[in-house]
Amino acid sequence: MSTIVGIDLGTTNSLVAYIKGDRPEIIPNEQGKRLTPSVVALDKTGKLHVGETAKNQLIAMPERTIAEVKRLMGTSRKIRIADREYTPQEVSGFILRKLKDDAERTLGHKIEEAVITVPAYFTDAQRQATKDAGELAGFKVERILNEPTAAALAYGLDHLDKEQYILVYDLGGGTFDVSVLEMFEGVLDVKASAGNNALGGSDFDRRIVDFLVKQFERDHGIDLSRDIRAMARMKGAAEQAKHEISTLDTTSILLPFLATAGAGPLSLECEFSREQFELLVDDLIRSTLEPIEKALHDAKLAPEQIHEVVLVGGSSRIPLVQRILVEKFGKEPKRGVNPDEAIALGAAVQAGIKAGAGSFGSKGGEDARGIMITDVCPYTLGVEVVATSGFQKMSGMFSAIIQRNSTIPVSRTETYSTTADGQSHVDIKVYQGESRLVKNNTFIDQYTIDGIPQGGAGSERINVTFTYDVNGILQVRTKVLSTGKEATLTIERSAERMSEAERKVARDRVEKEWTLRLPPPSAPMAPMSATGSGPGAGAAEGGVKAIVASAERRAKELTGEPRAKLEDLILQLKRAVARGEAMDIVRLDEELTNFLFELG
Ligand SMILES: Nc1ncnc2c1ncn2[C@@H]1O[C@H](COP(=O)(O)OP(=O)(O)OP(=O)(O)O)[C@@H](O)[C@H]1O
Ligand SMILES: [Mg+2]
Repeated sequence: MSTIVGIDLGTTNSLVAYIKGDRPEIIPNEQGKRLTPSVVALDKTGKLHVGETAKNQLIAMPERTIAEVKRLMGTSRKIRIADREYTPQEVSGFILRKLKDDAERTLGHKIEEAVITVPAYFTDAQRQATKDAGELAGFKVERILNEPTAAALAYGLDHLDKEQYILVYDLGGGTFDVSVLEMFEGVLDVKASAGNNALGGSDFDRRIVDFLVKQFERDHGIDLSRDIRAMARMKGAAEQAKHEISTLDTTSILLPFLATAGAGPLSLECEFSREQFELLVDDLIRSTLEPIEKALHDAKLAPEQIHEVVLVGGSSRIPLVQRILVEKFGKEPKRGVNPDEAIALGAAVQAGIKAGAGSFGSKGGEDARGIMITDVCPYTLGVEVVATSGFQKMSGMFSAIIQRNSTIPVSRTETYSTTADGQSHVDIKVYQGESRLVKNNTFIDQYTIDGIPQGGAGSERINVTFTYDVNGILQVRTKVLSTGKEATLTIERSAERMSEAERKVARDRVEKEWTLRLPPPSAPMAPMSATGSGPGAGAAEGGVKAIVASAERRAKELTGEPRAKLEDLILQLKRAVARGEAMDIVRLDEELTNFLFELG
């Protein structure tokens, strides 16, 4: 039997799930964790690390580590890690390759197919790039599924008997989505989606880091914004503080030895309160209200008509988020579904539907209806046209072909005419967006139809057909009515898309680097050293050993409290190494290094 897995490929964390019996279940990674950090790193020996071990290296070796690659998907940006260059698809491919490996190890057989989720508001290029990444990892990508839709599936599974309108609010690490759905008799009908592809928890982290940088500059006159290691440490501390103040009123941020000045090492130490945080991010969090209003408007619903607000994404844990939703909807949002896991679980449900798992989703005998879902195209799609008004011709106008929030799959045709005398070709420029002017919309792709019989302006007519499939991927067909000549624009040909040959090369590269990585599958997790010996098992232990040895030598020269403190740190570090706890090793190694430095 073949299993199709469901994957949430997140900005910060990724998860993989499958259907066990008739319930979706998260598959833990090699380290036994349910969330795998979406981080890729190369260690000093050039070996690849993905997930937890890569994230541990982020602070020690930021230039060898890449996080948040999802924000670059669909662009032609190259990513430098150490001395190598990758495309965003390849980096995402490594993350997916790891999830595949973890799933295969847990389930004990090969996995070839996957449903991968993307933000509902992802553009065509971003979806294509995600699909490519899946293929680079060796998956057949069964389906690209919208994240809030996946979350609704996971929620819907437990509420099959309800008839209600729900709003999914998904605020993750890098993206925000909102979807409004109608649920009845096991059918989930997406009415509207809206969002912001560039808003999430990492923007909140950045605001905190900016605040810390300013504070440090005010206190010490040193600008840390170009110090990549200090910035990485501040980002780590910012995220941790942000998490803490979701439950506490205040916390403290302490970063020893962040910079050096004439007088010696300088530390950053401050109290950080929830109130301060809310002032820093108030505008960002309140900006999520606008997509909510847009989605409600398109779904033709008032806030009072929403029965349930379902929270998804790690950032939905922020109390201010919950407060603005209570203000807006007059009721507490739902915390029933685990906000970190809902999307992957829903993707597995979709995979289960795809695999045709019979009475899947039903609760047994009397309720064998299962679950079904429809989705929408979240933005308007159209082409650039020249509009005539009186004697004036206005170019750069946008003509909509598929209206936003049409139920998908959808196919629509519009007819256009030539605009100039003797015109023999027409440029079809495809855009998405809501503006009447193409310059305010997002360009998708273009191509030229030629061989049009020349005649007077307006004498030739051309049908343009847009087909938007369930994966959210667009196909454009044209037909010159007088000659019957047809053409198909496959967005696959667009600049950011790789050719079949390039894909094959990239696929081999992902597989090769994955297989060559350290540690080998059976070895325990490699502890790492923040002193820069690299996370390869041997190298790291070597690095830690060296620092321990020099600390032991130094301790012998000391007396009193400094000696006691040094010996305590040495002992703690040795214990962490013995337990193989990479996070502790990195932290203690750093503490020890800093302390040695302070001692001079
Ligand atoms: N308790 C918490 N309080 C505040 N923020 C939190 C908390 N827990 C997690 N987060 C934030 O949630 C974000 C990660 O959420 P999640 O895993 O849902 O995102 P993602 O799926 O990786 O990103 P995206 O869906 O945008 O691609 C991070 O920015 C993290 O700091
Ligand atoms: Mg997410």
